[in-house]
Amino acid sequence: MIDKKIVEALNVQINEEAASAYLYLAMSADFKSRNLDGFASWMKIQTQEEVVHAMKIYDFLNSRDGKVMLQALNAPQDTWSSPLEAFKAVYKHEQYITGCINKLVKLARDQNDNATELFLGWFVTEQVEEEETASTVVKKLELIKDSSTGLFMLDAEMGARVFTPPVDGNE
Ligand code: FEO
Repeated sequence: MIDKKIVEALNVQINEEAASAYLYLAMSADFKSRNLDGFASWMKIQTQEEVVHAMKIYDFLNSRDGKVMLQALNAPQDTWSSPLEAFKAVYKHEQYITGCINKLVKLARDQNDNATELFLGWFVTEQVEEEETASTVVKKLELIKDSSTGLFMLDAEMGARVFTPPVDGNE
């Protein structure tokens, strides 16, 4: 039986992951409107990843007899002044999500809920990758500055990303 506080907190995290998906879909649409198709495609895949994150928690709650209660999503920002501004926002957002995961781990520990703590380990590792990826793109965009050739090349690189669903059996 899973503790009520943990059920509530995991439901909030489903909303955070869904909000992340919504934010990145808005970024994808903004990139698409600027003909940056590679960035748009990368963000669409990032949206899919966030849906996977939300679904992992959804499935975990169901497997522990915790009731899933979906909450409202706010409309995300719809325009960013540049790819650099967008990716700085991604980096900041992922740092925020890391903080949410860390709070969840602490709650699971405080409640002696080993199953939830172990489950959250996947997210702890994932957040290291999420922050690293965003930070790397920020650094590349800072190097590129106002070079349209550089932006064109990075757009092509971003467009090469493919969606690979996790294969750890938790999804
Ligand atoms: Fe689900 Fe990007 O963290």
